[in-house]
Amino acid sequence: MEAFFPKKIITMNFKYVIIFFGYCFFLSCAEFPYFNQSLKDDGSLSFLVIGDWGRKGLYNQSELAIQMGEIGEKLKIDFVISSGDNFYEDGLNGVNDPTFQHSFTNIYKAPSLQKTWYNVLGNHDYRGDVEAQLSPILREKDKKWFCLRSYVLHAEIVDFFFIDTTPFVNDYFTNPKEHTYDWRGVLPKDKYLNDQLKDLDLALSKSTAKWKIVIGHHTIKSAGHHGIIMELAQQLVPILEEHDVDFYINGHDHCLQRIGSIDSKLEFLTSGGGSKAWRGDVKGWNQEELKFYYDGQGFMSIELNQKEVEFVYYDVFGNVLHKFSVSKDSCVSSQ
Ligand SMILES: *[C@@H]1O[C@H](CO)[C@@H](O)[C@H](O)[C@H]1NC(C)=O
Repeated sequence: MEAFFPKKIITMNFKYVIIFFGYCFFLSCAEFPYFNQSLKDDGSLSFLVIGDWGRKGLYNQSELAIQMGEIGEKLKIDFVISSGDNFYEDGLNGVNDPTFQHSFTNIYKAPSLQKTWYNVLGNHDYRGDVEAQLSPILREKDKKWFCLRSYVLHAEIVDFFFIDTTPFVNDYFTNPKEHTYDWRGVLPKDKYLNDQLKDLDLALSKSTAKWKIVIGHHTIKSAGHHGIIMELAQQLVPILEEHDVDFYINGHDHCLQRIGSIDSKLEFLTSGGGSKAWRGDVKGWNQEELKFYYDGQGFMSIELNQKEVEFVYYDVFGNVLHKFSVSKDSCVSSQ
């Protein structure tokens, strides 16, 4: 046998096996990274959603942070989701930008909020140094910070798909006005967007979780200022519907709202009231789909278990503005 399989050939084959697995690993690296979140002992999960917030405490950001702290305590939240536009006006200018402390660490100080903040990037974040927000150095400065462009958070009964929506919006490329966007890592754009859509499709098709929630900064359906972002309505919605996504959660419009779909169960929930509200800049929406709109500041809480999910919208005083729940067993929603 030794004659047929000299040691040298065996080692060489081994080398190819390594290269082969290395290649598979490389291919799988192109997919969204996965992270795990454990459930509470009773099999449930609770969290808050806030968007469009970083203004050094101004425009009621600090008041909202206090209310978030109290609701977070009451619900014993497991984490916070941020729907983007983390730092106004122009993101962070580097990992040492003190805005990070002034708009995040020093604002969200309540003990209940010292859980992981799962962030996505908004268009204002792209006006600064995007790589700073993605850097692990920020996690060293504040361990609750977590931000990647696109990723999956898996929590047994629910999968969260965080997607990077800013590069989908053509206007930022063709008509950037006085702004400069940090497109490092995004160009060539067509490949970046194709990969994102393909990877989202793949991640959704692999998901066996009872609930599927997609989070991105930009609006898809909104009665607010930005209304429909056509690129997302055209490219993203078919994927969401094909895979029975339950909810798309976004920021971008500085309000709170809930819009359903006449022809599917997909709901579009906006939590973009983390600081400056626009007030009065409302376009309107088909009343059959528009379930709730609040033209002011606030945030959302979500409690979820195998059978049911409950959403609550709060204003700056912590008052409940709207709530609804969706139950999976019977496939009917109740409000
Ligand atoms: C803060 O919230 C209150 C209550 O909604 C509102 O009246 C006030 O205008 C807000 N302040 C700012 C600066 O947005």
